[in-house]
Amino acid sequence: MRIKRIQVLHWLMAIIFIAAWIIGFYSGNFLSYEADGSFKGDVIKLHKNIATTLIFLIVIRIFWRYTHPVPKLPDTMSPLMQKLAHLGHLALYFMLLALPITGCLFSWSAGHPAPVLYLFEIPRMVQANPELLAIVKPLHIYLSWAAGLLLIGHVLAALKHHFIDRDHVLKSMISSDK
Ligand code: HEM
Repeated sequence: MRIKRIQVLHWLMAIIFIAAWIIGFYSGNFLSYEADGSFKGDVIKLHKNIATTLIFLIVIRIFWRYTHPVPKLPDTMSPLMQKLAHLGHLALYFMLLALPITGCLFSWSAGHPAPVLYLFEIPRMVQANPELLAIVKPLHIYLSWAAGLLLIGHVLAALKHHFIDRDHVLKSMISSDK
């Protein structure tokens, strides 16, 4: 079985996205500085160090999208379902850009860095700014919830293709065989 580069990119981004989501959710909803002290700081750091990588990966993904033919959706899908699938994918691309961007703005405006894989930091584009923080913090949190729902929809759609419609859509993201 030959694995295509786009499949590696897809599953790598999926793993990072889900890990970032779970860690962010855990820190935001189950940890507090009062009760957990520096452990909360370490968990947020882990969230950021993982999630910032998506900025680089989504740029590669968008470049790939415009330099390679788009896989055809099955003819058995109605034009409406094809349109919905297309809109869903656009929304996912949007989220994969908007979440890391609002996350970085959230960190910077709170006076913290945006580190990548514990190796380097993304250069600060804004200084500590409470007014901006009051906007980007809730924005990041609401977007993360919307993205979580979108991801669940994406997974359910993939499972429907595989188990109900029995077409090649999920298989095409797992193996190179149709
Ligand atoms: C696709 C990427 C990302 C996803 C899926 C994501 C997801 C989340 C989620 C689910 C939360 C918890 C929301 C809640 O309180 O209910 C959160 C919080 C947070 N995120 Fe992100 N995030 C991403 C990228 C980033 C980036 C790149 C940064 C900064 C460099 C960042 C910084 C933060 C911070 C500081 C919090 C608050 C944590 C806390 O209050 O304990 N996020 N994120």
